Amino acid sequence: MPCGDNRNKAKKGRGISMKKAIIKGTGRYVPPRVVTNHELTQWMDTSDEWIRQRTGIEQRYWVPEGDEIGPSDLGLEASRIALKRAGWTPSDIDLIIFATMTPDVYLPGSGCYLQYKLGLDTTPALDIRQQCTGFIYGLTIANAFIRSGFANRILFVGSEVQSTALDISTRGRDISVIFGDGAGAVCLEGVETDEQVGIIESTLNAQGEFASALIMELPSSRLNPRISEEMILEGRHYAFMDGRSVFKHAVKRLGEVAKETMEKAGLSAEEIDLFIPHQANLRINQAFARSINLPEEKVFNNIQRYGNTTAASIPIALDEAIEMNLIGNGSTVLFLALGAGLTWGAVIYKFAD
Ligand code: UT7
Repeated sequence: MPCGDNRNKAKKGRGISMKKAIIKGTGRYVPPRVVTNHELTQWMDTSDEWIRQRTGIEQRYWVPEGDEIGPSDLGLEASRIALKRAGWTPSDIDLIIFATMTPDVYLPGSGCYLQYKLGLDTTPALDIRQQCTGFIYGLTIANAFIRSGFANRILFVGSEVQSTALDISTRGRDISVIFGDGAGAVCLEGVETDEQVGIIESTLNAQGEFASALIMELPSSRLNPRISEEMILEGRHYAFMDGRSVFKHAVKRLGEVAKETMEKAGLSAEEIDLFIPHQANLRINQAFARSINLPEEKVFNNIQRYGNTTAASIPIALDEAIEMNLIGNGSTVLFLALGAGLTWGAVIYKFAD
């Protein structure tokens, strides 16, 4: 199935200017297999106590072994829920944006797989590779497409299957205890309104200088061969993270970017109802809250139950926060994240009254 010729689709909505990108529906999905901290101790030298103290994580979800489940499959489940809540059918979608750092295959993008699984013919699909900052970049891209008139109804999915690429021996324990699988989906629609609603401000950053602080190197097109047995024995096909360095960058950058984005929007921290940060480590989010004097209850955390689901973490958190009635009509939310790249950013979103 080809990915589609988007020229016809692109005409949809063209000429309509300065619409606001409004969230019409959200959904989340995690695979059924729960993996507790205790379970991890059978494969690596770690403990429930260490993982809870250093990260806040109590459990995470992994796809069942041997079932060939990719992020497009988890994304499909989350999308079905989001589409239903939005009152859309797949054919209403003008564009799919798919954020993942664990694509189903090296190429093509997972957005194309999702497009086909949704039963669509030639609807365009765009993958983005911004890792933990995927939701922030993706929302900003969706907003730009909607405001330009290129697309009016966007299905935006963040989805990861990380468990199949974890080194679950002691060598990989600093990374493997953190990551989980899951998906979140958001239906975004352009709405003509004078009200200050929808995506009202965003800030994006990248600093390639620190690319090696969090990297999965193989297969690598800059190497010839791209992958060899020796490289695999060295574990270069697993993610490497300089955890302490990324931690320090996160605490500094998240505080800075939250302040900058609020300043651009002319909003104070008191005017933000809920901060929804990427769920990388509970201690990072607590340190972020302290760095800008936020009361802890203003910062949403669910890493305890999901682990770090990278591009899926914020849409999963958003969906839960809505379900828990922590946010709803009239609420203002600030999303923020930092991850591999390094990339980091923030988006302020206001729900209509
Ligand atoms: O989401 C994308 C962005 N990622 C992040 O934001 C993650 C940022 N980094 C972190 O969350 C933390 O750095 C980690 C959770 C990855 C690690 O926590 P840490 O407090 O920075 O620990 P550390 O790497 O400094 O290691 C402390 C000790 C070491 O032992 P020694 O050298 O002090 O004897 C590690 O070998 O803890 C050891 N260690 C573990 N022990 C038990 C590392 N991983 C584990 C483990 N279980 N899983």
